[in-house]
Amino acid sequence: MTEDDKLALAALRWQLEAGADEAVEEWAQDRRKKAAPQPAVAPPRAAPSPGPPSSGPPSPEPPPAEPPARFDEAPAPPPTRQAAPRPAAPRPPVGGLTSPQQAVASAREAAAAARTVAELRTALEAFEGCALKATATRLCFADGNPEARIMMIGEAPGAEEDRQGLPFVGVSGRLMDLMLSYIGLDREKVYISNVLFWRPPGNRSPSAEEIASCLPFVERHIELVDPAYLVLVGGISAKTLLARSEGILRLRGRWYSYQHAGLAHPVPALATLHPAYLLRQPGQKRLAWQDYLKLHQAVASGANPLA
Ligand code: URA
Repeated sequence: MTEDDKLALAALRWQLEAGADEAVEEWAQDRRKKAAPQPAVAPPRAAPSPGPPSSGPPSPEPPPAEPPARFDEAPAPPPTRQAAPRPAAPRPPVGGLTSPQQAVASAREAAAAARTVAELRTALEAFEGCALKATATRLCFADGNPEARIMMIGEAPGAEEDRQGLPFVGVSGRLMDLMLSYIGLDREKVYISNVLFWRPPGNRSPSAEEIASCLPFVERHIELVDPAYLVLVGGISAKTLLARSEGILRLRGRWYSYQHAGLAHPVPALATLHPAYLLRQPGQKRLAWQDYLKLHQAVASGANPLA
């Protein structure tokens, strides 16, 4: 074994110890290779600073950043010289609905008319008020057992979910399944859906209008399933359903009372980290594990965590 191989092995061990136990890319990348020389570009101009230039030591490593609203399932491909595709601009609702308000009103009406989960799905199939439908391959409605006591709500379908029409069946779904298995749960014991029913193109962050047009269906979905516990997976889900503005690192790990007009009683809702975030920040799995244990305690004891 060469010295280089030994170093590579040590780096791998270190990653394993840090919790990186999943490969998220299809092909291994040799990160020891020197990056190809970049074309000369003028450095960005420094922002004008009111004070003298700092000569102190470099600031310490910042803590893991608050997860951005949306994660790609796979890391971005290495940069190429081609022009980067522009992120798709949010499009207006389709199907003759000319304003976001009209889209929300139409969503409310269609969702309220659904008497069963199957009818809700049919209503969504026919709904034309969310522009994401135009770019998605298919509707991604739900997976798991609608009779289960636990309903998990993620953010939006990724590429694999868009292909299969089922939530959390990609890389992050596999991590979620694994974490659920550690507390004795599987897709027979949970019901899974998302805040968005269609994939945002390129996995971009959903716009406020897109979320608003899907929300009446999500709320009706919760009413119809009437779960004993809700698990809000990731920032978009937690912030949307709890109507909170804090980031997920603040919201996670606590039980909230989810209330809605059509529910006979408030549902205890636990906010937790999104598995896609955990794939990028494996050190944070520690926090997610605490959340899953909290869920396990509540489910196993049958106690109302809000009492
Ligand atoms: N991320 C989500 O939030 N939901 C999915 O269904 C897949 C990935």
